[in-house]
Amino acid sequence: MKIILIAAVAENRVIGKDNQLIWKLSADLKRFKNLTSGHYILMGRKTFESLGRPLPNRTHLIITRNPDFETLEGHYSFRTIEDAIIFCNKIEVEKLFIIGGGEIYRQTIDLADELEITEVNTEPEGDTFFPEIKDSLWIETYREEFPADEKNEFDYAFVTYEKK
Ligand SMILES: NC(=O)c1ccc[n+]([C@@H]2O[C@H](COP(=O)([O-])OP(=O)(O)OC[C@H]3O[C@@H](n4cnc5c(N)ncnc54)[C@H](OP(=O)(O)O)[C@@H]3O)[C@@H](O)[C@H]2O)c1
Repeated sequence: MKIILIAAVAENRVIGKDNQLIWKLSADLKRFKNLTSGHYILMGRKTFESLGRPLPNRTHLIITRNPDFETLEGHYSFRTIEDAIIFCNKIEVEKLFIIGGGEIYRQTIDLADELEITEVNTEPEGDTFFPEIKDSLWIETYREEFPADEKNEFDYAFVTYEKK
């Protein structure tokens, strides 16, 4: 199974504040939808709550320590990340997208094969961060840069990293 972390990350590695995203980047949302549609997406309970509702056409795997967490039909919750990964291997998931947030990225970056990062050209205040992408471990294999426009409030770049 290929494990892919997907995130939009500011220059100072901020990814969120007060359990919300902090920028309007329509192109990032589109790319997220294109890459993840039809796939399994793994996330922390806080990120799931920040979505408001499950995203269409994706199976949600929610990580929580709360044994009373109520999972919606067609989706799954797990008490550990390892249990979720064992489940995915068992049902032969080909690609697993890990969609955040900070706690989950930090605990899974070492398990990942690929990072799909939207670099956001700003240094906002925030309370949640993406872990450091170490040059010794990751190689940039794709980069496409775009200027801000009326639908995207900052310059941004789509960047793929693969594990060395
Ligand atoms: N920019 C981006 O691409 C992006 C993407 C996703 C999210 N975000 C942002 O990130 C922020 C949320 O991230 P976060 O770090 O606060 O929270 P998070 O990673 O989404 O969720 C944390 C929760 O996950 C559960 N959890 C974490 N590790 C666990 C483990 N090892 N075993 C069992 N459960 C575990 C716990 O849930 P319980 O408390 O229920 O036990 C914990 O409170 C928001 O601001 C969101 O907007 C940004």
